[in-house]
Amino acid sequence: MILTNRKSLEIDRPKNVEESASRAVNREIRILMLEDNVADAELIKFALREGGLTFSWVRVDSKAAFLREMEKNTPNIILLDYSLPSFDGLSALHIAQQRFPDVPFIFVTGTLGEEVVIEMLKSGATDYVLKNRLSRLVPAVLRALREKEERDERHRAEERLRKSYEQLRALSVYLQYVREDERIRISRQVHDELGQALTGLKLDLYWLAHRLPRQLKSAQEKARTMSANIDTTIQTVRRISTELRPSILDDLGLVAALEWQASDFQKRTGIKCAVVSDLKEPIMNEDLNTAFFRIFQETLTNIIRHAQATVVQISLKKVGRFLQLQVKDNGRGISENEMNDTRSIGLLGMRERAALLGGTLQLKGVEGEGTTVTVKIPAARRKEVESGYHENTHRG
Ligand SMILES: Nc1ncnc2c1ncn2[C@@H]1O[C@H](COP(=O)(O)OP(=O)(O)OP(=O)(O)O)[C@@H](O)[C@H]1O
Ligand SMILES: [Mg+2]
Repeated sequence: MILTNRKSLEIDRPKNVEESASRAVNREIRILMLEDNVADAELIKFALREGGLTFSWVRVDSKAAFLREMEKNTPNIILLDYSLPSFDGLSALHIAQQRFPDVPFIFVTGTLGEEVVIEMLKSGATDYVLKNRLSRLVPAVLRALREKEERDERHRAEERLRKSYEQLRALSVYLQYVREDERIRISRQVHDELGQALTGLKLDLYWLAHRLPRQLKSAQEKARTMSANIDTTIQTVRRISTELRPSILDDLGLVAALEWQASDFQKRTGIKCAVVSDLKEPIMNEDLNTAFFRIFQETLTNIIRHAQATVVQISLKKVGRFLQLQVKDNGRGISENEMNDTRSIGLLGMRERAALLGGTLQLKGVEGEGTTVTVKIPAARRKEVESGYHENTHRG
């Protein structure tokens, strides 16, 4: 059984692991040997050399020397006799495991009872070789080193994966901020510059229309249509600017912006939409407002697209140190699968937005009764978190 597993492992092993494993056994191996019998030690050394290993070797024969040696050097492998006059093998194993949890540990010893072998392996020894069968020693050493190298490679791969996940997260934070900053800037430019230019144009047209001779009826008519067109364009500019970033969010705060968005949603879709809030003060924290507002917009879009709802209830309140937004629709109810589907990028984005500010997003669906989205974000963030965070995202 074990053999089959090992075989399948070897087949699956990626190429770079193979390479690093063979690198591990081709270089000089540092061996620490705990053995009191000089003749036995020489025999073991001989077996290793005969087996073709290149190694450097330090032999110790007491606990004190063993501890001293471990302080000086990190061995690649530890070989030890099970029964020593001053020191037993299992204690040596425990000491070595504390100091070098990753270094393989092989008992090279005289005859052993079955229980001792089991206890030894249970305690974490990599392998054991009997002194009267030293031909097994080199294969055991090679296998221990290869397995160690594979473990190391796996840890390195996990570390790389974790790092790249962190980088992706930092990138997503950064992109969210850049996008929002960009939206604010374009929204203001569109509103102020285009808005002003259009108003100027309208005044000029007014001036011109009043100087046109009365009998030029068609020119008078043209001026009127032009003026009406300018009005429509001004409305369009306002709409574009508001869609990019509603100024109400920055001027009047979160509750006002949610109310405005809800009433606009109701006008457009016919779905009843009401906001309830018991907050006394307007919320003016830009990051918090952006996160709540964008999550809210995404939630409303989902309701139009998926819920088949007729009523949406929204509440914003303080719960402990959190600000909590709850959006409840009376539609078909999101299913467990939809919630956990990794392709649900919209939901993922909402979760990320909340997580960036130390918050959470929770979904609950009841079939035929509706969906509830609950977002909780700490109302005030600790200063050091905030400054570290901005440093990480290179945001001024
Ligand atoms: N209010 C809701 N009621 C019922 N189902 C919902 C609701 N909100 C979301 N869902 C389900 O959850 C899925 C995932 O939502 P998500 O916003 O991640 O993706 P999407 O809206 O399909 O696409 P997009 O990435 O454009 O937002 C939806 O496809 C839908 O099936
Ligand atoms: Mg969506």
